Amino acid sequence: MTSALALRLILLFLHIAFAALWLGPPLGLTKTVARGLASGQESLRLAVIELKFRGMLATIGGFGVFVTGFALIFAGGGFSKFGPQFHAAIGLVTLAIANSFFFRPLSARVAAAAENYTDANRADAARAIRRMTIHSNVQHLFWTASLVLMLWPR
Ligand code: HEM
Repeated sequence: MTSALALRLILLFLHIAFAALWLGPPLGLTKTVARGLASGQESLRLAVIELKFRGMLATIGGFGVFVTGFALIFAGGGFSKFGPQFHAAIGLVTLAIANSFFFRPLSARVAAAAENYTDANRADAARAIRRMTIHSNVQHLFWTASLVLMLWPR
């Protein structure tokens, strides 16, 4: 095996591992947080820790997919060697990164309710969790569409 091929294989392995890290940790996460909110302040505190940790894993995954995706393009001979589906995937992942910026302010609203468990904060946290669910579904839609593009016949 040539070293160029070995490099592409290692990058592809990392690329797919990062894609899994982006998809997996957020699955069911907003449901966990909603259950935490319904179960009392201590549960919500734990759910917020879970939210931040799994959110961080997904961020590392998304960033890793982006970087290894570009590395694969350059290791494979540049943009001219890869069809439009890879360019479209870059567009989708860029949109996913833009969509991810909604999460921080929304999770801050949930964290505020965990610290200060008033009726008003809890109602606001419930609204924030609903918004988070929508943005999370959008992320998974971008993820799935990117996977279809990756597997599209070249
Ligand atoms: C910035 C966005 C992305 C870029 C530039 C990119 C780039 C690439 C490239 C160039 C390859 C082919 C490697 C080769 O044959 O040498 C590849 C393969 C692959 N990518 Fe991506 N990718 C991106 C996003 C994603 C995402 C979001 C996922 C997961 C949903 C993903 C999953 C895969 C898979 C499963 C393969 C293997 C496909 C196969 O070999 O048939 N990629 N990617």
